[in-house]
Amino acid sequence: MIEKEHWHPVALCASVADAPLAVELLEQPLVLWRDRLGAVQAWADQCPHRGARLSLGRVCEGRLECPYHGWQFDTRGQCVHVPALPDFVPPASHAARTYVCLEQYGLVWVRMAASHAAHAPTFPAFAAEADAQLRKLNCGPYDVATSAPRLVENFLDMAHFGFVHEHWLGSRDAAQMADYQVQNTPTGIRATGCRAMQPKSNLHSTTAAQVEYTYEVTAPYAAVLTKIPDPSSLPASVGAAGYRESIALFICPLGPERSRVWFRLAVADFASPDQTLRDFQHTIFTQDQPVLESQAPKRLPLDLRAEVHTAADKASSAYRRYLSQQAITFGVIP
Ligand code: FES
Ligand code: CO
Repeated sequence: MIEKEHWHPVALCASVADAPLAVELLEQPLVLWRDRLGAVQAWADQCPHRGARLSLGRVCEGRLECPYHGWQFDTRGQCVHVPALPDFVPPASHAARTYVCLEQYGLVWVRMAASHAAHAPTFPAFAAEADAQLRKLNCGPYDVATSAPRLVENFLDMAHFGFVHEHWLGSRDAAQMADYQVQNTPTGIRATGCRAMQPKSNLHSTTAAQVEYTYEVTAPYAAVLTKIPDPSSLPASVGAAGYRESIALFICPLGPERSRVWFRLAVADFASPDQTLRDFQHTIFTQDQPVLESQAPKRLPLDLRAEVHTAADKASSAYRRYLSQQAITFGVIP
C-alpha cells in the first residue's frame, strides 16, 4: 500500500476554527475548514476555476468561498454560486477536489487516495487513548528537516539515550543495551523487553530508574512507546502501582525530507499543568532534533547494505523491512 492510501495527521483539531487553514501533506497543499455541522473538510488548496489558493478565502454560511472571484463551494466540493453570473447553475465539473478526513487523538487525519477494500489501511492504533486512568495531551507541532522514517527510527532507538539525552533518559556510563525481542504485526512491528537505566525518565523522577519500554510501529509514519517504570523510583503521590505512560509519535510527511511531528502523551499525572508536561517532552525532543537533522541521507535507505547495523538496531532493521514490504516510496531510498 503506497503512502497516499494511509491515514496521515495534518493539523491539531483546535487549529481548524472559523477561518480556512492551509496545510501540506505529501507535497500537496491542502485547505482545511469546518462546515456548519462542525465537521472538518480537507480539500486540495486550489480553486478549479483559476487555481487560486482556497485557504486565502473564507467560510460563509457553511460554504468555502474562493478569494479570487468569490465562487462558493458546498461540503461536497461542488461550486454552487458564481457571483459574476448569479443565475448560472454550475455543472458537476465545477468542483474542488476533496479528500476523506476525520478527527482522532486531537488531530485532523487525511487519506489522499482510496485503496481496494481488501487492502484498506487500519487507522493508527493508540490503545492508551481509551484508558480513562491516563490523561491525554498533545505536544507540537515540531517542523523537522528530515524524512518521516528517520523520525520513526529515532523514536524506536534506545542506544542514543546515553548520549543525546545524557542525564535525562540515559547515561554514557550505562549505555549497554540488554537484548530485546522484535516481532512483525499486522500494521508494522513490535519491540518488547527494551530496558534502560534512566537518570530522569519523567517529570516526577527523583532517582534513576530501570525502565522497560515496548515500541510499536502502527503505520508507516506512526509509532507508540509504552514505558513501565520501576515503581520504587516514583513518589507515592503518583500512585506507583498503576503507573505507566504511553507516547504516540504522529508524523505528517510534508515532503520527502520535511516532516511535521506531534506527540500524544497518555500519562497517569493529572496534577501537573499542561505546560509542565509539554516542557519535559520539548526538552527531550529538542535534544533529538539537531542530530536527526544532521543525518545523511535524510531519506531512509531501505537497502540494508546502505548503512551498517548491530544487534542493538534490530528494531530499525525490522522497520526498514516493513517499509519495503509496504511499498512505501516517500521519504525512503528504495
Ligand atoms: Fe477561484 Fe476564480 S480562481 S473563483
Ligand atoms: Co531521542
